[in-house]
Amino acid sequence: METSVALDFLGDLRRTHMCGELRAANAGQKVLLMGWAHRRRDHGAVIFIDMRDRTGHTQAIFHEDIDPAIHKRAEEVRAEYVIAVEGTVELRSQATVNPNMPTGEVEVVASKIWILNESRTPPFPMEEHVDVAEDVRLKYRYVDLRRPQMQRNIILRSQISFAVREFLNSEGFLEIETPFMTRSTPEGARDYLVPSRVQPGTFYALPQSPQIFKQLLMISGFEKYFQIVRCFRDEDLRADRQPEFTQIDLEMSYPQQPQIFAVIEPLIQKVCKVAGYDVAPTFPRITYAEAMRNYGSDKPDTRIPPMHPVGDLLPELAVLGLPLVAIHIPGCGTPSRKERDEFKAIGQEKGLRVYDDPKRLERDYPEQMAKIRERCGAKEDSLLVLATWGGAEPPVRRPEETVYQACGQLRLALASKFNDRHKLLDPKNFQFLWVVDFPMFEWNDEDNRWVAAHHPFTSVHDEDIDLLTADPAKCRAKSYDLVLNGVELGSGSIRIHRRDVQAKVFAAVGFSDEEARRRFGYLLEALEYGAPPHGGIALGLDRLVMILAGETSIREVIPFPKTARGTDLMSDAPAPVPDRALKELGIALRAPGK
Ligand code: AMO
Repeated sequence: METSVALDFLGDLRRTHMCGELRAANAGQKVLLMGWAHRRRDHGAVIFIDMRDRTGHTQAIFHEDIDPAIHKRAEEVRAEYVIAVEGTVELRSQATVNPNMPTGEVEVVASKIWILNESRTPPFPMEEHVDVAEDVRLKYRYVDLRRPQMQRNIILRSQISFAVREFLNSEGFLEIETPFMTRSTPEGARDYLVPSRVQPGTFYALPQSPQIFKQLLMISGFEKYFQIVRCFRDEDLRADRQPEFTQIDLEMSYPQQPQIFAVIEPLIQKVCKVAGYDVAPTFPRITYAEAMRNYGSDKPDTRIPPMHPVGDLLPELAVLGLPLVAIHIPGCGTPSRKERDEFKAIGQEKGLRVYDDPKRLERDYPEQMAKIRERCGAKEDSLLVLATWGGAEPPVRRPEETVYQACGQLRLALASKFNDRHKLLDPKNFQFLWVVDFPMFEWNDEDNRWVAAHHPFTSVHDEDIDLLTADPAKCRAKSYDLVLNGVELGSGSIRIHRRDVQAKVFAAVGFSDEEARRRFGYLLEALEYGAPPHGGIALGLDRLVMILAGETSIREVIPFPKTARGTDLMSDAPAPVPDRALKELGIALRAPGK
């Protein structure tokens, strides 16, 4: 293919400065910059080219009367051409100083220009905000990543990873790699499979997490392990989920919960500092039971006040012996009729009956409402909505929790609906929180059996071991989640280190001895060789960076993410492979599910 302009070679050219570096103090210096032509303005006898690299912009200026040849060459430059410019740094006149640019006090008066490469017209400009569909951005991701927002996000991600390494290293953690070609892990989501060519008919699984390997590393005596590691899960995707994502994964020997928190809290503090935020040195803790009752969620957003059961104050509104819940959103003022209808409908969708008319409640139950206001700490401009179960029959499973959960969803919907008024959902107000004491098991309706709520290697509370066989529903796990503003940032547990307890847990989730041995035989065997007590946690790096970067989708902090359908729009993966590749692997295709 012919180029549309003659191109120069890089040869021995070396840059002296980056484009974002030059200041008034550099005036008079001869410099050589390289970068993209961000914008070219042609004023006839004078051409301005705004040069850009990762560090910022500098204005280069080409005067026809000083050197007609380089002025002519500058005329050939178009957006996103790659150029090198040599020239002298000069102070701009007072009138042309640009206070919005760090290099705005100076410009480079060019004496030479090299065009190192041309560029097709980019599909969108390299600006902070572009009004273009995400699909287009993902198809041309290499160009999208040049935009300042994406540069900032990816650079922040690198700085955060570095801070994590630095901190964990200083705490005595070793960075140890674990394999990507493994057997299935127990997280419950689906595995991505990799066929083996040399052993036709067999498959590796890409790890959903390094869970078993990190436990084995404790049995191997490394005491403190960490890894910033890619994990793979073939699950349905959402804004905060990707099929491949990154965990800050760690494990320690002999910890209890406080020792894990004592690593994670300062780690998070340091990471937030890198992003420019100060956060409290310790995070509040609440139990799973409290989280469900107060917020109707195991990942509560505590920027909004908790809910309160008020059935004791207004028994006439509570039905079927189920909770009557007061949802309190401060700073909303009185909602309009239309708004009330809207949130009533949201509540109904979730199975609730919503008492949405505050004036009517105040009129019908003045004394009770005064007490409810007091209990919630509600003020004049607070929105107070009462809700309870709307069905004729109570929910089949865990009726109370179901009501609280539905109310929790209504609470979030109300909070985000009125955020313009109360501004409580400030993305920079970081409310970290530990949720502890999750139930060990949850009932799986599909399989009609108990499954591990976290994973089956999680320890139960010492005093709950007998409940493993007697009453699994009541068993509490030594597990904990780190939650930030309603997002689950991390999850971990103290593990089972005893073979006998592990066998009981497998039995409780309905694995026969044989099945347990087939799936996790090597771990069970390892537990028989002096496994020390151990525990750990994994934080979602993508989610952490997303929140610290002020983004609402993890795709904005992953250089090459997949779409909601798991497609890489740039390379068009996944894609069929040639027949000969399948033949070699001994694989024949058939329709899914057939
Ligand atoms: P868990 O499955 O809870 O725990 O994962 C830990 C954290 O990883 C992040 N995460 C994800 N991020 C983006 N996309 C996904 N699809 C995705 N799935 C999970 C979340 C989550 O909190 N082995 C255990 C940890 C342990 O017990 O030590 C585990 O993987 O932020």
